[in-house]
Amino acid sequence: MCGIVGAIARRNVADILLEGLKRLEYRGYDSAGMSLIDGPDGEIVTIKTVGKVARLAAAASDEGASGRLGIAHTRWATHGKITRANAHPHESGGRLSLVHNGIIENHEELRRQLRSKGYEFTTDTDTEVIAHLIHQELSGDEGASLLDAVSRALGKLRGAYGLCVIDRRQPDRIVAARNGMSLVVGAGIGENFVASDTPALGQVTDRFLYLEDGDLAELTSDSIRIVNQGREIEREIATLSGKVSDMDKGSYQHFMQKEIFEQPRAIRDTLSGRVSGERALEEAFGVDAGEIFDQVRQVQIVACGTSFHAGLVAKYWLESIARMPCQIDIASDYRYRDIIVQPGTLFVAVSQSGETADTLAALRYANGLEHTATLAICNVATSSLVRESDFCVLTMAGQEIGVASTKAFTTQLTLLLVLAIVLGRRNGLSSEDEARLVRDMNRLPALVEKTLGLDRQIRKLSRQFSDKHHSLYLGRGIQYPVAKEGALKLKEISYIHAEAYPAGELKHGPLALVDSDMPVIVVAPNNDLLDKLRSNLSEVSARGGKLYVFADESIGLENDRNHKVIKLPGCPEVLDPILFTIPLQLLAYHVAVIKGTDIDHPRNLAKSVTVE
Ligand code: F6R
Repeated sequence: MCGIVGAIARRNVADILLEGLKRLEYRGYDSAGMSLIDGPDGEIVTIKTVGKVARLAAAASDEGASGRLGIAHTRWATHGKITRANAHPHESGGRLSLVHNGIIENHEELRRQLRSKGYEFTTDTDTEVIAHLIHQELSGDEGASLLDAVSRALGKLRGAYGLCVIDRRQPDRIVAARNGMSLVVGAGIGENFVASDTPALGQVTDRFLYLEDGDLAELTSDSIRIVNQGREIEREIATLSGKVSDMDKGSYQHFMQKEIFEQPRAIRDTLSGRVSGERALEEAFGVDAGEIFDQVRQVQIVACGTSFHAGLVAKYWLESIARMPCQIDIASDYRYRDIIVQPGTLFVAVSQSGETADTLAALRYANGLEHTATLAICNVATSSLVRESDFCVLTMAGQEIGVASTKAFTTQLTLLLVLAIVLGRRNGLSSEDEARLVRDMNRLPALVEKTLGLDRQIRKLSRQFSDKHHSLYLGRGIQYPVAKEGALKLKEISYIHAEAYPAGELKHGPLALVDSDMPVIVVAPNNDLLDKLRSNLSEVSARGGKLYVFADESIGLENDRNHKVIKLPGCPEVLDPILFTIPLQLLAYHVAVIKGTDIDHPRNLAKSVTVE
């Protein structure tokens, strides 16, 4: 995912920009660049390199680059190959330079219009059209401020952007704009900054303004002005001195607890640049993704543990949304099977760490197959899985430290749902249905936040589990993998034996286990299988089993002698697997707290399983 840093000061900002880019390296990138202007009569100096920020830093030092105004960028290729020319910043007419995160959907049409007006294109990127559009606005009205020209140019764009632009003829300002991609302004004393994320500016300020969609910001060294739809806006400055970093538990008792509560942010970041208002953006999967997706006839998912559970959920989405056959295997099995691979198979390896030995071995096997493209869905940009797959898309969960995976799981699900939509579009999914699904997805962070509000209730409930030795988790259909994930969470951190079953399988064996000492945990969304699930609940009650039901509030299930009901906020059906996971994570966590286990480092387990 691309990263942006900008700075305006009374000192040389080159090192501030480079340090900012280094701090954004975790987002993943393939090339880097920066533009600097030094003083009122300065030229724009642009330096770009393919590869690491360290290479850009070396090139900048060789050139003795310096400037009091500058913008910088790390690029994750979407439109156009990984080349120096395609790296940002992009210039127009020798006076403007611009960096951009996001995807411009109508860039081809704009490119044609700009060409007919004499603009020459030197890159394959969608971004270059923005630079030329702004240049066109400035050339047509020499007295126009950069902010006004940017505002007019943005009116012609369709898509998502976070961007920063500088103009040689107005060298006392940076203009930044946000629509669908995160962008923050960092306030300093006699200097101001902008970046795609706060960590990029941690070395220069702890005071931030969070831009909102539609905001345009004009930064000089002494002022920050924000305009939205032509009106001046005040945005509050937040001081993040006590900011919790990924490596710091902050006010939380455990990393796992912190990571559970980070999920609204993690999902929001993962959606950013992957969906716009009503479309899933296939470009987010990389430059060649569209061509690869055109060839896909079926999907093979391979993963381990929690990531495998994400794949199990995705199978339902791929079948129902993409109408595509999907096979899912545990990586340690896949690598030793006599697999029959059909031409046109998309191999998807899902992993938080990207270093799980079995998943990597399966990927390497798939890389050797003909007619199979390999896609990594991963949380670590520098991992072996990302480097060795044909293409990849990163979950933006941030570093996950607790051994029990939480935010990685829900962000994997988020991307797998985007994948199902992107493949579905080629297989009969209508644009109305796509728009509805994407609108639902955009509600996800807020719904997760609301579901986390059940924390106190679940903490109370957890007291009834801590003396138990066994438990049964039930779900039907797409909720069966959710039940499996809930059971895995409970067993790995509380050491209580937990078994998950598809609820319809109960009477084929596990019902024999049910008695008053066996808690039965059920996930009950409001879907077509609800009536069947109710019958399964009756089977348990009739045998004296104690039920704990996590139920959609709309199904009208109330507490009684046999049921303890925790009500979840109603949500679009497609989001059920993600939302119903949250209370199960919380339940496992609180039971483990009561049991006093080492929650972040459960016995016998490692965060990254790099051996077979
Ligand atoms: C469970 C858990 C593990 C991992 C598994 C795969 O909470 O974290 O089951 O999911 O070891 O790891 P990754 O996703 O890194 O490949």
